[in-house]
Amino acid sequence: MSNSVDISTKELSKNFGNIRAVVNLNLEVRRGSTFGFLGPNGAGKTTTVRMLSGLLRPTSGTASVCGFDVHKQRDEIKGATGLLPEAPGLYSKLSAVEFLEFIGALNDLAGETLHRRIDRLMALMGLEGRQNDLLESYSSGMKQKVLVASTIIHEPRLVFLDEPTSRLDPAASALVKELILAMAEETETTFFICTHMTDFAEDVCGTIGILNEGILTTLGSPEEIVQNIGVRDLEEAYLKIVGGEVDRSRLLAWRD
Ligand SMILES: Nc1ncnc2c1ncn2[C@@H]1O[C@H](COP(=O)(O)OP(=O)(O)O)[C@@H](O)[C@H]1O
Ligand SMILES: [Mg+2]
Repeated sequence: MSNSVDISTKELSKNFGNIRAVVNLNLEVRRGSTFGFLGPNGAGKTTTVRMLSGLLRPTSGTASVCGFDVHKQRDEIKGATGLLPEAPGLYSKLSAVEFLEFIGALNDLAGETLHRRIDRLMALMGLEGRQNDLLESYSSGMKQKVLVASTIIHEPRLVFLDEPTSRLDPAASALVKELILAMAEETETTFFICTHMTDFAEDVCGTIGILNEGILTTLGSPEEIVQNIGVRDLEEAYLKIVGGEVDRSRLLAWRD
């Protein structure tokens, strides 16, 4: 893993009217690392990703992504990164190959380069043999794999994945997890992954940031966080930090 930094933010903030969605975020993500952004619904994760991927203008503060300024170089950022949005659209009347050809064309890829990449991605996803079937015939796990493929087809240096497993069953979720781990090992790709699934983050992410009500409250490796909070696992640490602590003995107290 290199020492260079792919994401650096300084006091990055976003307000929507009176809502302070992201508050003075200071964060560094190293090149080639896998960063997990944890936090409950409404914490500000998607807003952060939209600012860092060049889709949304920050209210204040600065950030650089792959060396580009989020205020002034949003097109360059879009070219250098891939984004799997929270609720992505997919053309169900296209086959997987047609969909990836379309996304490739949007990224200025064509011809043999594009088809080699499509073949490689389909093989990586275990979708050979189904690549010419319409996407409407795919399971949600298979669709998600095609969407992940479309996010990485232009071989971005940095990939944002916003809740990549939230709509998937455990088997499909495990496949997406394996794919990320394989890519992280085989390439220098940097991953920025929003999730509220602590077990997923624990397995996949080297560094974790916990966001609560727009404020980054915790930063460290899963092991460091668990140790600092003095709990058994990341889920307990997370619940303690975001205030959802559950006292299991009281939960079942009605029984006696
Ligand atoms: N376009 C928008 N207009 C107004 N408020 C928004 C908009 N997008 C997000 N918000 C608000 O910002 C806060 C953070 O939302 P979001 O970034 O989607 O959180 P998360 O992804 O962590 O669930 C929430 O209070 C949400 O309602
Ligand atoms: Mg979100």
